[in-house]
Amino acid sequence: MDATTMPDATPPLPALPPGLLTALTAVLGPKGVVTDAADLAAWTTDWRGLYQGATPCLLRPASTSEVSATVRLLAQAGVPMVPQGGNTSMVGGAAPDESGRQVILSLTRMNRIRDVDTLDMTMTAEAGVILKSAQEAAAAAGALFPLSLGAEGSATIGGVLSTNAGGNTTVRYGNARELMLGLEVVLPDGQVFSGLRRLRKDNTGYALKHLFVGAEGSLGLITAATLRLYPPARATAVALCAVASEDAALALFRRFRDRDETAIRAFEYMSGIGMGMVRRHIEGATVPVEGEHDHYCLVDLASSRADADLHGLMESVLEDAMAAEEVLDAALARSDAQAAAIWRLREEHPEAQKRAGASVKSDVSVPVSRTPELIRRASAALRKLIPGSRPVPFGHMGDGNIHMNLAQPEDMSAAEFLARGHDIMDTVNEVVRDLDGSFSAEHGIGRLKTDMMESWRGGAELEAMRRIKSAFDPQGLMNPGKVLPS
Ligand code: FAD
Ligand code: MLT
Ligand code: ZN
Repeated sequence: MDATTMPDATPPLPALPPGLLTALTAVLGPKGVVTDAADLAAWTTDWRGLYQGATPCLLRPASTSEVSATVRLLAQAGVPMVPQGGNTSMVGGAAPDESGRQVILSLTRMNRIRDVDTLDMTMTAEAGVILKSAQEAAAAAGALFPLSLGAEGSATIGGVLSTNAGGNTTVRYGNARELMLGLEVVLPDGQVFSGLRRLRKDNTGYALKHLFVGAEGSLGLITAATLRLYPPARATAVALCAVASEDAALALFRRFRDRDETAIRAFEYMSGIGMGMVRRHIEGATVPVEGEHDHYCLVDLASSRADADLHGLMESVLEDAMAAEEVLDAALARSDAQAAAIWRLREEHPEAQKRAGASVKSDVSVPVSRTPELIRRASAALRKLIPGSRPVPFGHMGDGNIHMNLAQPEDMSAAEFLARGHDIMDTVNEVVRDLDGSFSAEHGIGRLKTDMMESWRGGAELEAMRRIKSAFDPQGLMNPGKVLPS
């Protein structure tokens, strides 16, 4: 489209069916219905700025019965809905499309912790509770809710369950799914599935609750969850290590696992390029290991036993690894502040990358044993595809999930680089396929990856998913255009 054919102004958004807004306002009150275009902007764009959608309104129910009544009204009127939590999706999962027809249903007003039980070791939290608040509520009760990720100050319980988020502690505690015991869900017709059971054993037919975890809002709206708690960490040890190679990073993981698998809380890999971006773009970031290296690992050990000698374990394993020339240098945190500063170097990777210019993300997983090969082969293939581009592999090596991200060449425009986005992801995915991996590890499919579903999960698997979708959501109103290809 050139300037002469461009329309004078953006066409008005299609209106909602007559009377619907009034009926919604009667259910939600004026606080629960937002229609002002300026107020809506923050909700229609995703964290990465990949999608600029449009919506006729944002709905903010404050209770399960309000969600139910809202969904019933929207379903009767045939209006598509996009559930949204903290809007930190990396794959455009919570952003409406450009049609202007999709209503955003934000759960952030549902932010009550309903119950914490330190005998059953469970917490029941509403969908809009911020992950960090859930962690703090557990800590205040003397327990631990172990899910931890860079966006925990904004991501919500509904969001982390709907994406089956992973993060830093999957190696020890599993993904969000493993931390969920029960769910409350508003189904696409407005019915409430009340499954907030706190049972460790419950073999009663199909495990419905698990269908909603990782469904990215395509089967219904999670309104609350009963979550599994753990004893808090009473001894910890955190170190940043410069390692000789990708293989040395994996060898170090193995050394810790062989000595005491139960001690590993997180094992993260970072490349020299990523660390360089953090040094350059994040204020106050200092790397406690001298010089610049090509590969780093963050090792985090934790135990609920106060007398566990984790510093001793850390020092002893690192000494062995140094003798084997796998670890070149290491800094062991001597205080909580030093541990937090080391973690900051890892957690600021997404932000540093964002500030360093355009980047294309490939959130992929392979068997843990193949992570070094993934990093090496994908980096080489990406450099060949776009000379001058900078591979920034980092992430959760201990569970096989590497963010095989690529930063733009310094002399290429962001637009030109981003236009190659699909080539870049295909290049990584070719290696991933060869290594028996997955093209979507922890961020989900969202809008970004729906067109990959056919080739990765085609045949009987995709057909079964389509049948599940149409059984729950025959009108196709729940988060259309996400997860499944149309
Ligand atoms: P949103 O982004 O609002 O929504 C995500 C998806 O869930 C959408 O499809 C949405 O429609 C759906 N949804 C949201 N709430 C509900 C609900 N109540 N019911 C039904 N569907 C719902 N992810 C990881 O897994 N590991 C990481 O280490 C990690 N690190 C990150 C670091 C940064 C800096 C950022 C910005 C993101 C990171 N993410 C990570 C991605 C993101 O934080 C997670 O996907 C998170 O689970 C999304 O939570 P949210 O509340 O923001 O959900
Ligand atoms: C992280 O682990 O920091 C995010 O999931 C990765 C990313 O930003 O690509
Ligand atoms: Zn991650």
